[in-house]
Amino acid sequence: MHGNYDPVAPFYDILARAVFGNAIHKAQKFLLPVIPPESKILIVGGGTGRILEEICKLHCNGLSITYVEISAKMIARAKRRKKGRNNLSFINEAIQNFQLQGLYDVIITPFLLDNFSAETLRKVFRQLDNHLNKGGHWLFADFHVRNNKASQRFLLKLMYLFFNSLCGLETLALHDPHPLFRQYGYVPAMEKTFYRDFIRSVVYRKAGKILNPGSL
Ligand SMILES: C[S@@+](CC[C@H](N)C(=O)[O-])C[C@H]1O[C@@H](n2cnc3c(N)ncnc32)[C@H](O)[C@@H]1O
Repeated sequence: MHGNYDPVAPFYDILARAVFGNAIHKAQKFLLPVIPPESKILIVGGGTGRILEEICKLHCNGLSITYVEISAKMIARAKRRKKGRNNLSFINEAIQNFQLQGLYDVIITPFLLDNFSAETLRKVFRQLDNHLNKGGHWLFADFHVRNNKASQRFLLKLMYLFFNSLCGLETLALHDPHPLFRQYGYVPAMEKTFYRDFIRSVVYRKAGKILNPGSL
């Protein structure tokens, strides 16, 4: 089962802003300056595509962007965004079902990995890693709960219940992807937290060495 965000697409951005102010947006904007000119980029789960406008402010041409998004309604909104003269290819498909071609210089997963069960997370991680160039960057932004923060655990639970009731998510719990980044040999190059540490953005650089393949 894949979660489908179609039912929330018309009000997703308004809701995100009402709950988190500008934090979701800032967490993604923080990552973007590492994008090199003329690069090949994969964005998975970009939602209504606000990130495309932010990328366009940094590079308004020369980029080749593949935008994979499971929700047709999110894609329809993303297509209306200002994207300059960058070359964009929109794919309305679950990333698990899409056969990626070739290697990317940058992969962006903005609040995507929190949608996955532990098993899907491992599969999608391996799939994306297979298509990122050595030395390339994986731009990660997502929720992050400190065990001692009951208020954050509560808010996260509410969010899972809310999105599950409307979108049918495949998990009701957040699975920590950072051990996978470490195991696959990624190195954090830049990192920042937002919204009192509830949101974490990390620029991971792919060093290309699997540290502990037995546990993958
Ligand atoms: C929490 S929303 C984040 C949207 C946007 N990145 C943002 O930060 O505003 C997650 C997005 O991932 C998409 N998504 C969820 N599962 C997906 C999958 N398996 N493949 C591709 N996109 C997926 C949803 O449709 C949704 O747009």
